[in-house]
Amino acid sequence: MVNPRSSSSYRLRRSRFVVPPTIYRLALILLAFSVFLFLVSQRQIPVFDRGPSLPQKSSELEERLWDSASGYGYRPCVKPTHKYAAPQNQKHYLTVRSNGGLNQMRTGICDMVAVARLMNATLVIPQLDKRSFWQDTSTFSDIFDESHFIKALENDVHIVSELPKEMESAPRARKHFTSWSSASYYEGMSQMWKDYEVIHVPKSDSRLANNDLPVDIQRLRCRAMYYALRFSNPIESLGKKLVERLKSHGPYIALHLRYEKDMLAFTGCTYGLTDIEAGELKILRENTNHWKMKGINSTEQRLGGFCPLTPKEVGVFLHSMGYPSSTWIYIAAGDIYGGETYLSDLRSQFPNLVSKESLATVEELKEFAKHATQTAAIDYIVSIESDVFIPSYTGNMARAVEGHRRFLGHRKTINPDRKGLVKLFDMLEKGELKEDTKFSSRVIDMHKHRQGAPRKRYGSLPGSKGRDRFRTEESFYENPFPECICPADHH
Ligand SMILES: *[C@@H]1O[C@H](CO)[C@@H](O)[C@H](O)[C@H]1NC(C)=O
Ligand SMILES: *[C@@H]1O[C@H](CO)[C@@H](O)[C@H](O)[C@H]1NC(C)=O
Repeated sequence: MVNPRSSSSYRLRRSRFVVPPTIYRLALILLAFSVFLFLVSQRQIPVFDRGPSLPQKSSELEERLWDSASGYGYRPCVKPTHKYAAPQNQKHYLTVRSNGGLNQMRTGICDMVAVARLMNATLVIPQLDKRSFWQDTSTFSDIFDESHFIKALENDVHIVSELPKEMESAPRARKHFTSWSSASYYEGMSQMWKDYEVIHVPKSDSRLANNDLPVDIQRLRCRAMYYALRFSNPIESLGKKLVERLKSHGPYIALHLRYEKDMLAFTGCTYGLTDIEAGELKILRENTNHWKMKGINSTEQRLGGFCPLTPKEVGVFLHSMGYPSSTWIYIAAGDIYGGETYLSDLRSQFPNLVSKESLATVEELKEFAKHATQTAAIDYIVSIESDVFIPSYTGNMARAVEGHRRFLGHRKTINPDRKGLVKLFDMLEKGELKEDTKFSSRVIDMHKHRQGAPRKRYGSLPGSKGRDRFRTEESFYENPFPECICPADHH
């Protein structure tokens, strides 16, 4: 680093020796000159670091593009504390239906493991939601490695594949647990075992608080999520194959491009679309009862940073960040709205744009094709293993992948600053800025601290009250720090 004091002490030293004989004076001038040179060279190091406006050594560029943020020695810590007891042979059963898409189900399943532990219950392998938007008939063992799941958690919770026959006629309750509940809430719920032997939970999403839970419960959630809940063998093996195919070209980006019809309709984001398309999305929004926001001003949504980046905007973003056009980009997403019409805006800048459909053979994809949750699982694996993960919008998948990558060693995840970027994009559009090195430096600077470096989980938004307080907290699985990510010297 440049030390501003060193240049002033150099000046001082020189002024102290003003009248020595000529030979000393000459020697001093030489010395002073070399000190000067040294200082200049010191000063230049940080200047050369400042992005692409100055020529950059290619290894430095590679590092900036692909290397993970420093993990500062932080590492996973999931071992239980010494007070943690083995589960007793439990005679009460918890049955669960996990709702939502893949990642909502995953977090719900792991939370239910923790709930079963808190309530001293045996957990029956959850049923998966078949009626949701995803219309997927997959069972637990189609998506996950069921026997591994049971075995991996045997020191935490008893898990069985099915409710035992003799329990089918046992007194049974159906219970909607309150969202974001504490450990004491569930300990209190254990009173229900006085009257019932089976409790059925029809919804598993967000039933457990993010924060203020015993560390052993938090670590159990991490063991469940990151070790026990593996994907089934067919999914794992295709996922691995796709990762290998991508890696054979060098490092790659997994782009969670949330530019799907339902997402655009839900958020009311119609920037860059035709009037006909905007109308179609509006009708879809108005006809979907459980979407509460109806009249949305697309312009205001976008300026507020509440819209997914368009494929074209993603292209400008990646280019400004310095990714060369030869970069391999894997699109982890469902169907892109408008298909190639909008995707081509990105493909024209980054021709090596692939997805599971183009990377896998028809034959390889056949057994998963009718199952949205299984294809989502393949995207999940490729996203976890990517060199860089970039979500164009927030959501359950973006959060889950980011958290998992943090857990595995703070793998690089770049979260686009959508609000900041949209301002710059609009200035480009109006001709107030050019897509040059200066523009690029601004984009790079804007994202210096959005690359997945270790930090504590964010609390609730200031001013939020009641349920909203929990809703606005950063999700436990988005950043399991500090409970499951500890300093290097932690044992
Ligand atoms: C669960 O079981 C343990 C040991 O058997 C006991 O100490 C604890 O109080 C029980 N918890 C509840 C909520 O029943
Ligand atoms: C949407 O918001 C923008 C910016 O606030 C405003 O200029 C525009 O008139 C609004 N559009 C409609 C249809 O209300």
